[in-house]
Amino acid sequence: MNELVVKSLSASYGLAVAFTDVSITVAKGETVGLLGRNGAGKTTLLKAIIHDPELTLRGEISVNNVSLGKFPAYKVARHGVAWVPDNRRIFTALSVAENLDLARSKTAPKDQLDRVLTNIPLVEKLMKRRGYELSGGEQQAVTIARALMSAPDYLLLDEPTEGLAPLIVEQLQAAIGALPAQFDVGILITEQNFSFVTGLADRVHILETGQMVWAGPPDELVSKPQLIDRHLSVGEK
Ligand SMILES: Nc1ncnc2c1ncn2[C@@H]1O[C@H](COP(=O)(O)OP(=O)(O)OP(=O)(O)O)[C@@H](O)[C@H]1O
Ligand SMILES: [Mg+2]
Repeated sequence: MNELVVKSLSASYGLAVAFTDVSITVAKGETVGLLGRNGAGKTTLLKAIIHDPELTLRGEISVNNVSLGKFPAYKVARHGVAWVPDNRRIFTALSVAENLDLARSKTAPKDQLDRVLTNIPLVEKLMKRRGYELSGGEQQAVTIARALMSAPDYLLLDEPTEGLAPLIVEQLQAAIGALPAQFDVGILITEQNFSFVTGLADRVHILETGQMVWAGPPDELVSKPQLIDRHLSVGEK
């Protein structure tokens, strides 16, 4: 089965426990949302999946039936998982074309750059610009394009809407919504922006102070304002 499976996973930073007993599955081609307040453990879960060496892990992570065991982060990437960090770490002194070139992978199809540019036309227009010349929304589009250069099976997106204007958020939602069909990729997306995720995801999980407290279809979450009030700070942003 082509799935990213996290089973009974716990993670800590030294003695500080970040989350315990978390299970979540993402199939290729589907989008799963992970909502939660500040400090809930969303970023840590994505870091755990890519085996960030800062973390001590217990539990299981497998990709397409291959257990990731104690693989270092770069090997997890080779197993088809790409991470888009929340701070959009592109090389600001380099052009967009150079940023994408650095992310090219030997295992990706030769025409991957063409596929990325065809499907994310905004990035094609920005190829000659330097990282520092981009707006926040443009940087986010480039960061996602860069992650797709390795032709991953799974994309981990960490709070992509953070700090973006509402109109840009709308465009980003449409662009992310098209990725599963364009690239046959499974997406795990963390957010505090609840409507952004419910508009995109096939399933949603809520994490609260390191515990998974709810999982279900987005429609059900939308119809239960009490759940949103209880678990997601100020409700819809
Ligand atoms: N490098 C670190 N060292 C120690 N503790 C950390 C570290 N990074 C995060 N934590 C702690 O782990 C917990 C989960 O943090 P995490 O960043 O995963 O939350 P989050 O849900 O992504 O929050 P946000 O919405 O603010 O991004 C918090 O208690 C946080 O203080
Ligand atoms: Mg975070």
